[in-house]
Amino acid sequence: MNANSDLDDQAPTPNGDLMLQTVAMPADTNPAGDIFAGWLVSQMDIAGAIKAVNVTHTRVVTVAIDSMHFLTSVRIGSVVSCYAEVVEVGRTSVRVKMEVWIDYHNSPEPIKVTECEIVYVSVNPQGQTVPIEQ
Ligand SMILES: CC(C)(COP(=O)(O)OP(=O)(O)OC[C@H]1O[C@@H](n2cnc3c(N)ncnc32)[C@H](O)[C@@H]1OP(=O)(O)O)[C@@H](O)C(=O)NCCC(=O)NCCS
Repeated sequence: MNANSDLDDQAPTPNGDLMLQTVAMPADTNPAGDIFAGWLVSQMDIAGAIKAVNVTHTRVVTVAIDSMHFLTSVRIGSVVSCYAEVVEVGRTSVRVKMEVWIDYHNSPEPIKVTECEIVYVSVNPQGQTVPIEQ
């Protein structure tokens, strides 16, 4: 018997810290009534930046977002939760792993929508890179 069988039976749960929670609104939809992927990416970028600034304590800019796959559509009224975890801190950059999960009125468990990694760079007010003090 697998020693991890109890763990295997558990529903998957979000990884990382909850950085942003919002509700998907009608203004964020396409004509079919589903939420735009771009709106979701925007929420992830904001949430990841908050996480990155907790590390850099400077202004940050987004330099890279890796590939994303969307596992399910998002309906109006869903509670959208963005989770973030710092996976790497470089000289001037912070790589943050993001996950997005949704809850809808009748969903028994949160549902994972997507994940990606976003790289932020620490910059000064002029937009020049600034080493992160660690
Ligand atoms: C981010 C920016 C300041 C970096 O300037 P740069 O001259 O390329 O600086 P560097 O080459 O020293 O790179 C800085 C860090 O970013 C990392 N980086 C640069 N390009 C990257 C990429 N495509 N993927 C991952 N990391 C990257 C570098 O590895 C480096 O990390 P480290 O210092 O921790 O080792 C500059 O490219 C910029 O202003 N880009 C626009 C950012 C922006 O406006 N974003 C919002 C767009 S709407």
